[in-house]
Amino acid sequence: MRVAMIGTGYVGLVSGACFADFGHHVVCVDKDAAKIAALKRGEMPIYEPGLADLVAANARVGRLTFTTDLKGPVAEAEAVFIAVGTPSRRGDGHADLSFVYAAAKEIAAAVSGFTAVITKSTVPVGTGDEVERIIRQARPDADVTVVSNPEFLREGAAIQDFKHPDRIVVGTDDERGRDVMNELYRPLYLNQAPIIVTSRRTAELIKYAANAFLATKITFINEIAELAEKVGADVQHVARGIGLDNRIGGKFLHAGPGFGGSCFPKDAVALAKTAQDHDAPLRLVETTIAVNDARKRAMARKVANALGGETRGRTIAVLGLTFKPNTDDMREAPSIPLIAALQDMGAKVRVYDPAGMEQAKAVLTGVTYCENPYVCADKADALVLVTEWEEFRALDFDRLKKAMARPLVVDLRNVYRPDEMARRGFDYVSIGRPKQRS
Ligand SMILES: NC(=O)c1ccc[n+]([C@@H]2O[C@H](COP(=O)([O-])OP(=O)(O)OC[C@H]3O[C@@H](n4cnc5c(N)ncnc54)[C@H](O)[C@@H]3O)[C@@H](O)[C@H]2O)c1
Repeated sequence: MRVAMIGTGYVGLVSGACFADFGHHVVCVDKDAAKIAALKRGEMPIYEPGLADLVAANARVGRLTFTTDLKGPVAEAEAVFIAVGTPSRRGDGHADLSFVYAAAKEIAAAVSGFTAVITKSTVPVGTGDEVERIIRQARPDADVTVVSNPEFLREGAAIQDFKHPDRIVVGTDDERGRDVMNELYRPLYLNQAPIIVTSRRTAELIKYAANAFLATKITFINEIAELAEKVGADVQHVARGIGLDNRIGGKFLHAGPGFGGSCFPKDAVALAKTAQDHDAPLRLVETTIAVNDARKRAMARKVANALGGETRGRTIAVLGLTFKPNTDDMREAPSIPLIAALQDMGAKVRVYDPAGMEQAKAVLTGVTYCENPYVCADKADALVLVTEWEEFRALDFDRLKKAMARPLVVDLRNVYRPDEMARRGFDYVSIGRPKQRS
């Protein structure tokens, strides 16, 4: 099948490369000429494990190409995906749909023959109706069906998630639309990925409900962690104790510094706004957003408390900047408000991240970027672990301790064991676990 992917960001590039790998002919389109030029040279615009090889292999056999010009690929395609960004609209937090609607207009002008226009971007309920209206108004003659197909991949495991999804959600009432989707995802039926075919509006709501639920689950365990600290319990054991219950499940029960990333924060806010507009407020989601914002700000106070309240002139080493490991995505990363608040408190901040430092430079100023964890820890009064990259699990603690001015570790991801850190001579503060003094 011929596919045009409009928007070659995280979702567009991963989806395009995976569809090509399934055997389809995919053209990835983007307005960003520098991004397309880089992709043509074989350079990846994002850090995602396995992506460079997948793109190279499919480009080599001619199934995956890149362009800035939408017209030709859309005219030839039977399936046109919209995978452009839907960021928070400045001011009110609603999803900004201007990129989606602009893409719909351009697609309308270019389509030829029967075409399924498939929205992969995360969009509020009713957006598919508006995309259809835009296309029909511009081109009453066009033979188009508009389908919703939200994407659930996780950054850092995007290819695995795309190729082995828990489910595929398809929103359409149109038989021809369903046929196109069946054809596109046929290789996954062989792996028996469940497919849910439902109405377009239901598919749109499924995506937001999923993200809001996961954000709520994280926030729940974060609040339990606060309580655990006050009552002398261990949140890790609580998470395991409840997570082994199949009705609850163990995933997304890791207490930490609050959720960030390109999806949860903006999607939770957009869903809450949609719900208010329809006079069906989602108070749980509204509270989740507020609790999470407060938590991110509270992390700097946690570090300050570990330092006995004295932060002015202190040097703080921060390990991990990206919102989670295995990505270079800095969008809404908890490290950003943490570092800003530490700077406001007069601390000097040194940072290290295995993949995110280039992206971080656009959002974090006044920090010292270091080449490895040990340089980062040099003369530090505290070391704060913010993102649980694999390489931080096996640090040389003797070397770290020698480098630091004071052996204090604040672990916002509960990567280390309190008893072991104490044995190695560190003061150790973590999330929702009893404090350890060396
Ligand atoms: N990143 C994720 O993990 C993830 C997961 C699931 C769903 N989503 C959703 O997928 C959508 C895309 O997210 P992303 O992270 O890939 O965004 P992104 O910002 O990484 O990429 C969007 C791309 O679209 C391009 N673009 C915008 N308008 C265009 C147009 N008219 N024609 C061609 N290209 C255009 C931009 O230049 C950019 O490269 C969003 O709605 C997001 O919520 C993201």
